[in-house]
Amino acid sequence: MSDTKLHELSRRSFVKTGAAGLAATAAAANLGLLSSTAFAQSGDKVLGLGIVGCGGRGTGALGNCLKAAEELGLKVKLVAVADIAADRTERTKKAIESSWGAKGGYGVTDETTFVGMDAYKKLCAHPDVDIVVQTTPPGLRYLTLREAVNNGKHSFVEKPVCVDSDTYRHVIASGEIAKQNGLAIVTGTQYRRENSYADAIKHLQDGVIGDITASYQYYCSSTQWHLGDGGETKWDPMTYQMRNWPYFPWLSGDLIAEQSIHNIDAINWSMGGPPIKAYASGGRIARTQPEYGTIYDHFDVHFEWENGVKSAFMGRHFEGATNKVENRWIGTKGTMDLRPNPGRTAWIARGHDGTTVLARNTGREDNNQPYVEEHKALIAGITNNAPIMEIQGVADSSLTCILGREAAYSGKELEFKFLAETAKLKLRPEGMDDGPKAGPANLPYPDVRKPGSYKVV
Ligand SMILES: NC(=O)c1ccc[n+]([C@@H]2O[C@H](COP(=O)([O-])OP(=O)(O)OC[C@H]3O[C@@H](n4cnc5c(N)ncnc54)[C@H](O)[C@@H]3O)[C@@H](O)[C@H]2O)c1
Repeated sequence: MSDTKLHELSRRSFVKTGAAGLAATAAAANLGLLSSTAFAQSGDKVLGLGIVGCGGRGTGALGNCLKAAEELGLKVKLVAVADIAADRTERTKKAIESSWGAKGGYGVTDETTFVGMDAYKKLCAHPDVDIVVQTTPPGLRYLTLREAVNNGKHSFVEKPVCVDSDTYRHVIASGEIAKQNGLAIVTGTQYRRENSYADAIKHLQDGVIGDITASYQYYCSSTQWHLGDGGETKWDPMTYQMRNWPYFPWLSGDLIAEQSIHNIDAINWSMGGPPIKAYASGGRIARTQPEYGTIYDHFDVHFEWENGVKSAFMGRHFEGATNKVENRWIGTKGTMDLRPNPGRTAWIARGHDGTTVLARNTGREDNNQPYVEEHKALIAGITNNAPIMEIQGVADSSLTCILGREAAYSGKELEFKFLAETAKLKLRPEGMDDGPKAGPANLPYPDVRKPGSYKVV
C-alpha cells in the first residue's frame, strides 16, 4: 500500500465523537482506522511524527523518538508541530532540525506549523502525522488523546494523563477506542523502562524480601520554574495559566500528580495495581504567593491496598531543604531501598538484621536509556503489528495521585473506586469540554482547598 493510500484510509476512517459518547462509541467502533497491519505491509514507510506541546519534555521526547528509530533502523521524521505559542514551535523546530535534519529526521513546513488554542486539532487531523507526541500540560491530555485517537493516530502521552475523575474516564474511553482500532498508546512513566527499576520490582515480586507488608515513598524536591506574566504585553488569564500550568490544579493535577507520580507508580507496579483508599494531609506553607496559583507545596499520604498493606508517601517543593527521591519497601524477610544513592539508580535488599541479601549498585553507568526505550517500544510495536497499549496503568497511577491529593485537600479518607466510578470531580473551567479558549476574563482561580470545608463530590 502506498503512503498516499494509507493516509486516505486514515482520513476516510476519521470519526468525530462527542466527549460524553466516547465509551459508547468505543464499544461500537470497528472503524478500519490506519492500522499497524497497514504499517507492517508498507515496508519502507517513513512514520510521520507530530507534537502537541513544544516545551522542554516535548522537545526531548522528539529527540528520544528519533534516536529510537535510528537505533532500530526504522524511519521516523518530525512532520508537524503545534503549540499555543509561536516561540515554542520555533524553538522546537530549530532544535530538531539542527540535530536531526541532516539525518532525514526533520520535515516541518510553515503549513505544518500550527499555533493557537486549536492547533492540536489541526495537527491531529493532518494526513502526514502517524504518531502524536502529547506533551501539553496534563489537564489537556484527555483532549489531545481523544483527538489523536479519533483521527486514527498512534500516541505517546506524557504523565500524568488525567487530573480528576472526569479526565480519568475520558482517557480510559479513548484507550478503548484505540485498542479496538489497533492504535498504540505508550506513556512517559519511564521508570517502567529503566533496567534498575524493572530489576528491583521483579525481585520484589519474586519475594527477595518476602511478602511486602508496607512501603515508604519520597518525592521531595525544590521549587519549579515560573514564567512571569508575559512582560509588557501581559498574557490574558488563560494564556497566563497555560504558560505557568504547574501551579493550577486543573492543568497540572498539583505536584503530587505532576511530579510524584513516578514514585507512586513504582509502588502500584510492585503491588500489582492501585490502592483502595487514602488518608492524607497537606498544605501550603513555604510557597504562598499568589503567582504560585492554588497548588499545595507539601503532601503526606497513606495509601492502603485491599490486603491491608499500607504505603506512606511524602512529597514537597521546599527551596533550600533536603531533597529525597526514593522508595523503601518492607517485607516479612527484610527491606529493599530503591535509588538509595543520589543521582544513581540502584537498589539494595537487606535482611532485617541489616545484612545485604542482594543488590544492584552499579548505578546509571550500566543502565539503559529509559526515555529512548519507551519510543523503541512505541515504534517497534507499530511496525511489527503489535501496537502497545498502556493507558490503563498510567491512568490508574494518575488517579492514585489524585486520590492522595483529594484526600489531603478535603481531609477525608477517600476510596479509589469512588473517584474512578462515582465522583463528579472535574477541575477544568465551565464551557471548556471542547478545549480552552483564549483569554476569558472570568477564568476561575479557585481558592486553595481547605480541609474540612472542601468536600469531594
Ligand atoms: N517523564 C518525565 O520525566 C517528564 C519530565 C518533565 C515533564 N514531563 C511531563 O511532560 C509534560 C510537559 O511538561 P514540560 O516540562 O515540557 O512543560 P512545558 O511548559 O515546558 O511544555 C508544555 C508546552 O505545552 C504548551 N501548551 C500549553 N497549552 C497548550 C495547548 N492548549 N495546546 C498546545 N500546546 C499547549 C505550552 O506552551 C508549552 O510549550 C507534562 O505532563 C509533564 O508532567 C515528564
